[in-house]
Amino acid sequence: MNENNLTRRQFIAAASAGSLAAAASRTIPAYGNISKKAGKLAILGGQPVRTKRWPSWPVWDRSAEKSVLSILRSGNWFRGRGKTVSEFEEKYAKLMGVKRCVCTVNGTNALLTALHVLDIGVGDEVIVSPYTFIATYNVVIGSCALPVFADTDPETFQINPDKIEERINKNTKAIMPVHILGLPANMDKINAIARKHNLKVIEDACQAWMAEWRGKKCGTLGDLGCFSFQNSKHLPCGEGGAIIGNDDEIMDRCFSYHNCGRPYGSVKRTSGYPIIGTNRRMTEYQAAILLSQIKRLEKDTQMRNENAHYLTSKIKDIPGIIPHKLYEGVTRAAYHLYPFRYKKEHFNNIPRGKFLSALSAEGIPCSGGYGPQYKDGLIEVALNSKNFKRSFSKKRLNKYREQNHYPDNDQLCKEAVWLSQSMLLGTKRDMDDIAAATLKIYENRNKLA
Ligand SMILES: Cc1ncc(COP(=O)(O)O)c(C=O)c1O
Repeated sequence: MNENNLTRRQFIAAASAGSLAAAASRTIPAYGNISKKAGKLAILGGQPVRTKRWPSWPVWDRSAEKSVLSILRSGNWFRGRGKTVSEFEEKYAKLMGVKRCVCTVNGTNALLTALHVLDIGVGDEVIVSPYTFIATYNVVIGSCALPVFADTDPETFQINPDKIEERINKNTKAIMPVHILGLPANMDKINAIARKHNLKVIEDACQAWMAEWRGKKCGTLGDLGCFSFQNSKHLPCGEGGAIIGNDDEIMDRCFSYHNCGRPYGSVKRTSGYPIIGTNRRMTEYQAAILLSQIKRLEKDTQMRNENAHYLTSKIKDIPGIIPHKLYEGVTRAAYHLYPFRYKKEHFNNIPRGKFLSALSAEGIPCSGGYGPQYKDGLIEVALNSKNFKRSFSKKRLNKYREQNHYPDNDQLCKEAVWLSQSMLLGTKRDMDDIAAATLKIYENRNKLA
């Protein structure tokens, strides 16, 4: 931007950025030992803060190789002829502090199973967060229920519990909180609302292995909890998922349903198959990889938390960088992603896209995360489908369209910056690189405009 050619608004913005710069220079000691990397921004042809590679993901060891090979050689590849899936289910339930676990082919099918066994389907409404991976929308729509969004709390990136009650009506059957990015949602408030309105709670914990709310694992706080073990996840096996819960009868139904409706435990055969079923069984190979991966989960979680807290302490005083907050009830996060908000008004109004490119050029891979998916075609296609038109009145669907606005989420989608989980498996020095690169961009913001 040409400083001689400022409009009044730009001038005020530039002036306030200037005073922020002055404030920043006063607070430089707060940056601790971030080694300030002076010089030209890498995106403008300068030296990047970092050229070293980041930890890659997934990480595997010989124990997985051995057990996968032994399953291959045995010919017992499906769970009906092996013990590996059951062994992992027992281990995972124990680790989560819950009675039962049923593994599925992936997280999407864990959620679909949970919705089915809790009898949530045609004509029902489920309250979900708009700020999530598309699978959370898909499973509700796929169950022929209406995904009703409650706006996001931009400070925590989670569903805003104070926006849930206004979305409840007589057709609401469940709340599906997502512990998105591996940061726990406010489960005290969500469970209190669910109790008051007699709603089921299905936790989408597909990004939140080992995260805790008041010392209890995420996924154990509602009626059922669902997880994903997809390739990018902290407990990965390519594709995989699980449902966990404490109610034996519900868990029996999960097992039976995922196994073609065959009788299981309290689910008895009357004539033929007693319940409708499908096949969502995990293979023995998937479980073998999980049994190997689960060994590193505790240590990795510890490391991610330590590095995340350290990184927050390093970047929190850079003007325009707002680290995520954790609710008071969070005793541990999973950190599937490390998020912060970027306020461009502190960076000479450089658009977020340019900030992301500048940060990437400094050797810090990053992304802007989810967009406002409720504005794209998916919801409208669902509302116009034969199933939805039969299941919901025209009046209801029109009201839904009118209410489909989430200003806090819209804003968050414009400001979010994500760093990936494997970066948090680096060292404190690696975190210093992230902080130094961010500070370098801040200090050179006038050159980017
Ligand atoms: C929040 C959330 N829900 C659901 C899913 C679906 O899991 P999967 O990919 O294993 O089907 C994912 C996977 O990324 C997710 O992140």
